Amino acid sequence: MTQPVEKNDDPSRLLKLWNLRRLSFPLLAQKLSWIVREKISDWVFDQIIARQAFDSVPRPTLEHLGINSSSATSTLMLKKIFRLYHIQPHEVLVDVGCGRGRVIAWWLNMGCNNKIYGYELDDDIASLAKKKFAGHENVTIISGNILDRFPTDADVFYLANPFGAKTTGEFKSRLVETYYGKKEIAIVSFYCMHIDVFRNDPRFNIQEIDFPKWSVARDSGFPWYAVIRLTASSGKNEGS
Ligand SMILES: C[S@@+](CC[C@H](N)C(=O)[O-])C[C@H]1O[C@@H](n2cnc3c(N)ncnc32)[C@H](O)[C@@H]1O
Repeated sequence: MTQPVEKNDDPSRLLKLWNLRRLSFPLLAQKLSWIVREKISDWVFDQIIARQAFDSVPRPTLEHLGINSSSATSTLMLKKIFRLYHIQPHEVLVDVGCGRGRVIAWWLNMGCNNKIYGYELDDDIASLAKKKFAGHENVTIISGNILDRFPTDADVFYLANPFGAKTTGEFKSRLVETYYGKKEIAIVSFYCMHIDVFRNDPRFNIQEIDFPKWSVARDSGFPWYAVIRLTASSGKNEGS
């Protein structure tokens, strides 16, 4: 059954611009430097290495699905995030909401031969990703809601803030039903607005990295990125 997908509450660009007035000049300079490096790094990766424009999914394409977060994770962020979480060769990787597939292309370019799943809710975007990775036997792109066809052999889930709070809660329930007591699972999460769904649940251990000082999202109550581990069951800390 298809789950209703609620709107993600990412603040608007205008609000983000308005918040910039709080930054001092040196912090604004640091922010600008990050943005420039991010753009250059993404351009080099997309145009020269992967030869695919991953960031060009127009927002209106996704609005009918109630999705407003459609940007691909930047390659600078991916470098940082996967320095914190080291992928092991035996791990099965899942990009939850893969879009056109920059994360998958980045994993492949890093030399990962792991089994990889990319789930994408939007059929048209999923078709583009299927075409892109058709030559890679280890990559499977699945079109549809991940909650409808939850993977049963995964080790690592990558999430770039694809859901609102309600769907994040449903994702957590599905994860616990499928894996708790069987094996440890890592959720590698970028811009984890809904981290509260996992906090204070004894089944999860969380390693959080805060936003840099130049980010207006600092002190917003959620981390820049995090590794959330579903522990193997101890048999005593059974939460809801
Ligand atoms: C922000 S993009 C991230 C793309 C890619 N993971 C990255 O980081 O570069 C989020 C994607 O998640 C997809 N999505 C949202 N909810 C989903 C769901 N329930 N199942 C599968 N995909 C979903 C959206 O269609 C969108 O393309």
